[in-house]
Amino acid sequence: MSSLTVTTSAAAPASLDVDVVVIAARAGKDGPELVTHPDLAGLLPALTAVGLTGKADELVRLPSIEGSRASLAVVGLGAELTADTARRAAGAAVRQLAGTGSVALALGLDDESHVHAMVEGAMLAAYSFTDYRAKTASKVKAPVAAVTVCTQASVPDAALERIRVITDHVALVRDLTNRSGGDLYPQSFADAATEAAKGAPVTVEVWDEKKLAAEGCGGIIGIGQGSSRPPRLVKVSYAPAGATKHVGLVGKGITYDTGGISVKPADAMNGMQNDMGGAAVLLGLILTAARLGLPVRLTAYLCMAENLISSTAIRVNDILTMRGGTTVEVMNTDAEGRLVMADGMVLASEENPDAIIDVATLTGAAIVSLGRRTVGVMGDDELAGAVVAAGRETGEPHWHMPLPEELRSQLDSRFADMTNLKPGNRDGGMLVAGIFLREFVGTRADGSTIPWAHLDIAGAAVNEGPAYGYLDAGATGVSVRTLLTVLEKHFV
Ligand code: BES
Ligand code: MN
Ligand code: ZN
Repeated sequence: MSSLTVTTSAAAPASLDVDVVVIAARAGKDGPELVTHPDLAGLLPALTAVGLTGKADELVRLPSIEGSRASLAVVGLGAELTADTARRAAGAAVRQLAGTGSVALALGLDDESHVHAMVEGAMLAAYSFTDYRAKTASKVKAPVAAVTVCTQASVPDAALERIRVITDHVALVRDLTNRSGGDLYPQSFADAATEAAKGAPVTVEVWDEKKLAAEGCGGIIGIGQGSSRPPRLVKVSYAPAGATKHVGLVGKGITYDTGGISVKPADAMNGMQNDMGGAAVLLGLILTAARLGLPVRLTAYLCMAENLISSTAIRVNDILTMRGGTTVEVMNTDAEGRLVMADGMVLASEENPDAIIDVATLTGAAIVSLGRRTVGVMGDDELAGAVVAAGRETGEPHWHMPLPEELRSQLDSRFADMTNLKPGNRDGGMLVAGIFLREFVGTRADGSTIPWAHLDIAGAAVNEGPAYGYLDAGATGVSVRTLLTVLEKHFV
């Protein structure tokens, strides 16, 4: 968790007792333009000479500022000034200034949304994951310890505190997701969730393999049965007084994905300790909402299992009975996420919530179609649209993808109710996974389907590098801030 101290100040940046003062440059048509700070305009030729262009992520440094002990850095804003460029510029500066004690962000921004974004970017950037560094700890520069945001806007303590709660939980998600699969397995993930929830107004229930079997969760049991470290379902409930709406949350918590008997090729297995990222995101989301006191009821089902290979693992063509009774013929044990999620979707539906949102590192096809920075969103058009719109505000790209009806036949089975995929058919892989999940979204008494959005974060959950904006390499915590925005805008 970041221990960054953030304060705001209306004083002249050069008068502050800090190590580095950061100003901003825009990439103008005719070259870089310094944003405000007319007193520094004379530096422009020198800055251009050392390569300043003003493009995003750029940080150019000069040795000193007249009349101050601080050195000067100029961060690029890119061509256009938005809240997100402010967030990214603050983050890019704080990230690249790791190893520095104190930094003043004098980006010349006074608009409230820009200032909040700067604070958020700084807090997100002051993150580093060093849990596993033993003899090389000194190779990692410590995150910036203190940031002063120079602005004429006044930022109430409550606003700073709110941003801190959010970014602390994003850091929690990143910590959990970055953890080694040797250490994070279903029980230890459940323990970590219980620990993280301490003091928050939520209840946490952990279902062990006996309870899962008794409850008919054949997907989670089936995928978990190949490991000596048995599966778990963690149910986190937040039911504040005054809530009028209830949202069910379902997360994929595969703590390691070998592919199972349908084993992955060696190179494709790299990174599969992160396959629990969706469950981590929803743990982070529900704890953020609870600690902020958001008046919406939330129930999260975090479906945890290790997809391993052993004599007890499920076979190809095994038929599993999911919660609710649907039978699924497993055509490929590497399409395991949808199987554990199916139980979670049914459990969430049983409570008849106003909406269900699921988050999963579900398919490699998501990376093929959208790359590594954009989350695929499927399901109910209106809810998916709300997620995409919220992502524009938070600077986390989300994109609405269809669930084409003709792909449903890929899941037809000879003997069972359905399969988990059609062998050899890779057409629309992300969409087929979404169509599979849709089968487990409940119907109401009036015949209507519960509004549902499915987020495939396989690409965006982890930054494979290089670092950019406020993000270093490793887990990103993507979708926590976006889904919080969705809850605030549409469910309270
Ligand atoms: N966990 C993977 C998806 C994934 C791939 C996440 C790469 C992050 C990075 C998922 O369980 C999986 O193995 N999907 C298969 C599905 C296939 C068997 C239909 C895939 O994408 O290859
Ligand atoms: Mn898999
Ligand atoms: Zn997986």
